[in-house]
Amino acid sequence: MIARAMSHSARYDAMAERVRALYDRNRQKGTAPWCGQDYDFVCPSTGTYPFQWFWDSCFHAIVLARYDMERARSEIRSLLKNQPDDGFVGHVTFWQREAFEEMLKEYSIAYRTPYLSDCIQPPLLAEALFAITRGEGGAEVRAELLPKVRRYYDWLDRIRDPDRDGLIAILQPDESGLDHIPKYDRYLGVSNPTRDEFTAAWQRAVGPYAELQRDHDRMFAADRFVVEDVLVNTIYAENERVLALLHEESGDPAAAAEMRTRATRTTASLLGKCYDPGTGLFYDLAGQKEELLRVSTVTSLMPILLPDLPKEMVASLVRHIADPEAYAAAYPVPSTPLNEPLYLKPSDGRPEHDSKLLWRGPSWINTNWYIARGLRRHGHEDLARTIEDRSAVLIETHGFREYYDPYTGDGFGAHAFSWTALVLNMLADHEGVK
Ligand code: GLC
Repeated sequence: MIARAMSHSARYDAMAERVRALYDRNRQKGTAPWCGQDYDFVCPSTGTYPFQWFWDSCFHAIVLARYDMERARSEIRSLLKNQPDDGFVGHVTFWQREAFEEMLKEYSIAYRTPYLSDCIQPPLLAEALFAITRGEGGAEVRAELLPKVRRYYDWLDRIRDPDRDGLIAILQPDESGLDHIPKYDRYLGVSNPTRDEFTAAWQRAVGPYAELQRDHDRMFAADRFVVEDVLVNTIYAENERVLALLHEESGDPAAAAEMRTRATRTTASLLGKCYDPGTGLFYDLAGQKEELLRVSTVTSLMPILLPDLPKEMVASLVRHIADPEAYAAAYPVPSTPLNEPLYLKPSDGRPEHDSKLLWRGPSWINTNWYIARGLRRHGHEDLARTIEDRSAVLIETHGFREYYDPYTGDGFGAHAFSWTALVLNMLADHEGVK
């Protein structure tokens, strides 16, 4: 109780200082000759990811909004500066492309233009807009950016939901932001793959898109990799809801009502199509036949975020989150449960965690942030506090790494990784800091 009543906390303040240093270090600021625009954003990690990534940037803005609103606003302005007229926003903007041509040879990314990717990432842009429109000057920023943000969600609705069930589809695994997560293995035709085997399967699924000129009707018709992903659509539903709030704030009840209807439809489809009462978990839908991909991963827990999730589903997700055999690791929440045969243990002898086979076991801070907030929404504060505290211990002990071993807490992947700073928002909840 004492911690919650406090508005200052030494633990929070210490973390805030570290976050500030991290975001100063990873700041990318300049003018891009190719578009004549200024940019000012935080890159995920200067060593491996120097460009502007879509969902990373939304997380960075949400963190920055806690202590530097001007930079938080610049982050999202930069993300939207090159939005094409149709409303799409690519998952990477290659602002400083010319400086990294060598590195780009290693990337396999489909380009809409040489400076903008042609893929999506989980759509948390409305949440980012909400964060940067609090406080002084917020109404002006909302007036400036809400039309662009709304156009983005209209693009998703128009282009990525051809069966009109309110669930948007990803057309390749990494569009979920969860590159090698094992839930896609069977659909991709691989089993416990090495990094090379996974890449080959990815290439088989996605390679032919080039011949289809990346035309969405043709990519959907080809039905090579069409997944209505639970993490993507939980975030989509939450953001449709937040977008309705933003429209309300701007005095546009008709637009707000439209977004509420869409949020309700997305949520209804998630509950109706993706929930499996047998295991009490949510699973993705694959292909035009919408087959359930029955592999438990951290994304199966994500609907805990939905405020109107029915009580029995909440109870079931909480059971899984609290299960020490599955997700309640020493350092939760592992991206695949500890008792899942596809879970990759660092002790297996295969250097997977270092070889960048991502999302196959380790704990990540962005999914922790969502899950802890979801638990709080449904009154499971104790469980939320455990995740918040253990997440903070990870950073306090091992620094801002890309992901962490759920048994030992050791950090892996990129160093000085920016979205891990979401731990500051988790500590704010934990310590009762406004
Ligand atoms: C990895 C992650 C992806 C993230 C990117 C940049 O590819 O899987 O979600 O956006 O790195 O941090």
